[in-house]
Amino acid sequence: MIITESRVRTAGLEAAVRAPSPYNTQPWIFEVGPVGVDLFLDEDRVLAVVDTGGREARLACGAAILNFRLAVAAAGWASTVELLPDRTRPELLARLGIGQARCPKAEESRLAAAIPRRFSNRRPFTEAPVPAHARHAVTAAARAEGANLLLLDESGTLGTVASLVRRADTVQGEDPAFHRELAEWTSERGGGDGVPAFAGGPRSAGGLLPVRHHGPDSQPERPYERDPVIVALTTPSDGPLSQLRAGLALQRVLLTATDLGLSASFLSQPIEIAGIRAELHQLLGAHEHPQSLLRLGYGYPGSPTPRRPLTAVTRRIPL
Ligand SMILES: Cc1cc2nc3c(=O)[nH]c(=O)nc-3n(C[C@H](O)[C@H](O)[C@H](O)COP(=O)(O)O)c2cc1C
Repeated sequence: MIITESRVRTAGLEAAVRAPSPYNTQPWIFEVGPVGVDLFLDEDRVLAVVDTGGREARLACGAAILNFRLAVAAAGWASTVELLPDRTRPELLARLGIGQARCPKAEESRLAAAIPRRFSNRRPFTEAPVPAHARHAVTAAARAEGANLLLLDESGTLGTVASLVRRADTVQGEDPAFHRELAEWTSERGGGDGVPAFAGGPRSAGGLLPVRHHGPDSQPERPYERDPVIVALTTPSDGPLSQLRAGLALQRVLLTATDLGLSASFLSQPIEIAGIRAELHQLLGAHEHPQSLLRLGYGYPGSPTPRRPLTAVTRRIPL
């Protein structure tokens, strides 16, 4: 069977929108033209309170780019990606193209197969330790996309980072604007975006780290795992290009984890507050700009969060 370029492109776009995004905002628009797909930042979907400047939205779009690349590769085609192709249009994040037919690499097929299975697992994980080979694999995944993944229990910084997460969580918890924005994206929205109640975890009963609570306040508390594996994804510099690259690396880490049977959830609180992010940066090192903080472990099964239909996020340029 001959798979047409347009079917491959659709497969790439369907995979792209499965990328994670802050509060499931899906801050992307894909403009499909005769020679490729232009990916734009949807500025109306950048979170004004937790994501001033759009750093997290660019991470999400970077993750979408990796999904596109992997799905196209798994379908047996090469792809081209040009990040920030036009300096005069910073909202144009990437130009994506389909290249020649070619055999997929085994790793590309495995990671592409993990795209529909990956989800943010905010529930407590089991106490099973994450073995050395899995730690090595997620670290290598970040490196493959030009980022770094620091395992905080190995670097001796876990206690200090945990205190930054707790402080940032308290600062956000006391901010009415934070609560308004969270409520806007966690109530029943109905259009295939936002965080549905089923995707939230229970309130943490003590524990080292507060997982952001998305469910109703009446939910009971439960203890989380005693020795969480917390990793910091960092880039050697910062700015829109680094943030896009961090998004590709983030998604490669998440898909590698999924492929290994691991679950992950985000702890973005200290990265979302400029002053605390600066403290985290100082703690991790001059060349380690923190982009994402993740919790990894063996979780229980869960369900993927819905997305808006492809028609809501694509525009077609007439031939
Ligand atoms: C940059 C970024 C930051 C995020 N920060 C958090 C966070 O702090 N807490 C949280 O529970 N989820 C966080 N998420 C996860 C999103 O809420 C999640 O990706 C979205 O709801 C879609 O669900 P899925 O990941 O299960 O597909 C973040 C996602 C991204 C891309």
